[in-house]
Amino acid sequence: MTTDKVDYDALIPNNVGLADDPKLQRALEKWHPGYIDWWMSMGPDGFQTADVYLRTAISVEKSGWAKFDYVKMPEYRWGILLAPAEEGRTIPCGEHFGEPAWQEVPGEYRSMLRRLIVIQGDTEPASVEQQRYLGSTAPSLYDLRNLFQVNVEEGRHLWAMVYLLQKYFGKAGREEAHELLLRQSGSDERPRMLGAFNEETPDWLSFFMFTYFTDRDGKMQLEALAQSGFDPLSRTCRFMLAEEAHHMFVGYTGVNRVVEATVNAMDAAGVSDPYDLEAVRALGVIDLPTIQRKMNLHFSLTLDLFGSEESTNAANFFNAGIKGRYRETSIDDDHRLTNDTYPVMKLVDGRLQPVQVPALIALNARLRDDFIDDCQGGVTRWNRVIAGKDIDFELRLPHAAFNRSVGEFADIDVTPEGKLVTSEEWESRRNEWLPTSDDRIHIESLMQPVQEPAEFASWIAPPTRGIQNMPEDFLYVKLP
Ligand SMILES: [Fe+2]
Ligand SMILES: [Fe+2]
Repeated sequence: MTTDKVDYDALIPNNVGLADDPKLQRALEKWHPGYIDWWMSMGPDGFQTADVYLRTAISVEKSGWAKFDYVKMPEYRWGILLAPAEEGRTIPCGEHFGEPAWQEVPGEYRSMLRRLIVIQGDTEPASVEQQRYLGSTAPSLYDLRNLFQVNVEEGRHLWAMVYLLQKYFGKAGREEAHELLLRQSGSDERPRMLGAFNEETPDWLSFFMFTYFTDRDGKMQLEALAQSGFDPLSRTCRFMLAEEAHHMFVGYTGVNRVVEATVNAMDAAGVSDPYDLEAVRALGVIDLPTIQRKMNLHFSLTLDLFGSEESTNAANFFNAGIKGRYRETSIDDDHRLTNDTYPVMKLVDGRLQPVQVPALIALNARLRDDFIDDCQGGVTRWNRVIAGKDIDFELRLPHAAFNRSVGEFADIDVTPEGKLVTSEEWESRRNEWLPTSDDRIHIESLMQPVQEPAEFASWIAPPTRGIQNMPEDFLYVKLP
């Protein structure tokens, strides 16, 4: 029995009636120590005894679902929370369109559903692992707190997926839950399932790019799973999206503040040429071309997460009604797509051009295109910060075909502007487009911890507002 009320006093806070389901409770309590071991060995390095001003979900109501207080991270109340049930919800797409949403796993789609949940689940702990060492170089206590907020919530998202596996998928689900703690980001023997989640997040600019772009891929996937006809998955994802918004806020404002520090410093020192790297870097900030290269890298890695543009798996998920499109219910069509087409960018006759393909097999391409649109907003606002100081430079999302390893563009060489070039030319110009070892050395030199309240590293501007409107000198993390 699921209620909207959260049992917050239970060992595992939840609104899924865990106390009335002893079998599930036992399974989760058995999994819990392994999770804590994972958190201690693969989660944030150091800081586990620090008091961190964190948000904890205590309700699933739209307003006031969280409380803020000092918490030691290993004592964070990771819970299982589903968004309120929607009365009379129906399956929003595919061949079962219009039938009542499933409250139990439909037998014929069991293995497909399990796979979707495992893939989503795998990304959650992966990002915590990728961000493990960032605490020691945080540019302020405010940023340190935001990092840990993202980390504990990704931990909770793992709990969310493990709940579904253990509640609905029997022994196989329990095994999958166990294995989610065994794979490790970047490991040779047992890597995480998706490429971008095995890359390093070596510095804070990468962290902000990751939370802006890669967490936004997470948002798109969760939005598509929130449209699932399997109602428990839909409700789980809907609540995760409430938390995910903050992660993208950290990314958006993070990059914005980096850009701001750079153009402010240039302006104050009378440096107007953004390509005069020596002059700009001497100011203790990150030059705009390096920010562009970082963006090119993280954007292209994230696009690979959407999989092949044309995919029969994606068609099967949609047909089955277990994964929808972005904002499925507000799209005006038959939600079956049996006769529709969708334009997919492809290489034809030596040119990149849109080709109409059956809409059903183009669902990955469509979600990726929706993602690209969603990314543009932040970039436009970052450019306003640059224009505000009259600096002649514009950040741009690279072309979708640039630097890709998955799908239609994996084997071709394309510039960020979308021009096809030979692989020799591409290789010889790589340093214009992707972070160079020089860029890395410069960024690394700036990654020095700042741990005094109200103080910020030179390369990042203070935020315009504190968390919960706290004053600038608020002690977001009390170091032991
Ligand atoms: Fe997440
Ligand atoms: Fe996230």
